[in-house]
Amino acid sequence: MEKYILGCDIGTSGTKAVLFTLGGKPVASATFEYPLYQEQNGYAEQDPDDWVHATCDAIAAVIKKSGVSASSILSLGLSGQMHGLVMLDENDRPLRRAIIWCDQRTGAEAEEMTRILTREKLIAITANPAITGFTAAKILWVKNHEPEIFAKTKKILLPKDYVRFALTGEYLSDYSDASGMQLMDVPNRCWSKEVTSALGIDMALLPTLVESSDVAGRIHEKAASLCGLLPGTPVAGSAGDQAASAVGSGIVRPGVISATIGTSGVVFAYADKPAIDPKGRVHTLCHAVRGAWHIMGVTQGAGLSLKWFRDQFCKDEINVAASLGVDPYVLMDKEAEKSPIGADGLLFLPYFMGERTPHLDPDCRGVFFGLTSTHEKRDLLRSVMEGVSYSLADCYDIIRELGFDASEVRAAGGGGRSLLWRQMLSDMFSSPVTTTNSSEAGALGAALLGAVAAGAYANVPEAADATILTKDRLDPDPEAAAYYKRGHALYQRLYTSLKDDYKALAELRK
Ligand code: XUL
Repeated sequence: MEKYILGCDIGTSGTKAVLFTLGGKPVASATFEYPLYQEQNGYAEQDPDDWVHATCDAIAAVIKKSGVSASSILSLGLSGQMHGLVMLDENDRPLRRAIIWCDQRTGAEAEEMTRILTREKLIAITANPAITGFTAAKILWVKNHEPEIFAKTKKILLPKDYVRFALTGEYLSDYSDASGMQLMDVPNRCWSKEVTSALGIDMALLPTLVESSDVAGRIHEKAASLCGLLPGTPVAGSAGDQAASAVGSGIVRPGVISATIGTSGVVFAYADKPAIDPKGRVHTLCHAVRGAWHIMGVTQGAGLSLKWFRDQFCKDEINVAASLGVDPYVLMDKEAEKSPIGADGLLFLPYFMGERTPHLDPDCRGVFFGLTSTHEKRDLLRSVMEGVSYSLADCYDIIRELGFDASEVRAAGGGGRSLLWRQMLSDMFSSPVTTTNSSEAGALGAALLGAVAAGAYANVPEAADATILTKDRLDPDPEAAAYYKRGHALYQRLYTSLKDDYKALAELRK
């Protein structure tokens, strides 16, 4: 009987479950969406139970669609949006909505962390300076602003680990996701006593840590009745979405780098050792490959910027796409292609949710620069895509400066499906850009972690080698590359020029 592996990508807009053959071929997929609550500028919250319901519904739908018997599904792996804060009470119920990765309310708490521990110590232990979006600052925010909730907290979990808890009853996390909480000693792969005690966070609140490809819980009876998997099906340690997507793109050894355009955008490199940027511009975290680390630069608003443009200005494309049965982004790409390289002198800064790499600035905001009355929608569209690509080029430049280079960059995520966007990346990175045979790198990476946990492959690199192929190589166009080099310098100057004004704007809004 053929065996299958299941991967669930618990993202910001929804959860996607994909069933794969052991060889990594997708058999069926299903997505269930949920709301994002943004009650104030810079706030971003979700209901943890929405993730659980969407995961169970997506798994049940995939099993039904595929016609595959649950007994031939070897394992489940999860890929989770990172850094989100779920706080549980003594009855394991969420005490409040989760504060998720892109929430930027914690500027004061990040400063508090730096005051208490110093920037140098935070970088040495957690491998990163205090970051507003990471979980530790969010915990401090609840401690400072909602002390009654903090006092009732009995467990703290990340988004996918809350889903795991709901499916298996286990309080566990994996190193890749947990290292994004900023409470770990990242070089030594354990919780940091020094950091947790300095911040007044009891280590007993935190889950036990495992490797991503270990068995970490089994589906219990109640969950089995909701999602259709057999009780006892193993769940992998699993991974944060970036590490999972990197596994699903084959970033499992040195020499290949990936660029993922999802809601956020990430340039990701494998690291044998915990290589740390002394300037703290890119993150160093544990990888989902046993005993490995990774380095990544993050653009907060990548696909998020284009989705904003779609929802505000592309109602026609949405309607036409629905009548043609295609994705609106395909039509938007066609529009953007009609605008010249450089979008006729229009630049876009994608800082809708503040920015991480390279600025670590929760207060910066989006900008269109250079608008004239001759610009059309197509130019705005193209400038959004170019602005996100410049931001990813910022990430790649720093990663290269730290000594990581690659013979090719593998594009992934929803944005990686766009030929236009991939060509921009190739031109701006001055590097060949490929894609892989799976357009669902996150779910595939998660499923492969499950396959290793179930013993179907000996380790993660072996699983990736057996399933992932590259295709569609694009090379830089010298003329476009030369334009973008000058455009990138201007793009970078714009942030410097606006830095103080962003702070003034934040003050004005208070
Ligand atoms: C990575 C990050 C995002 C989120 C949501 O640091 O914040 O990838 O996990 O996708």
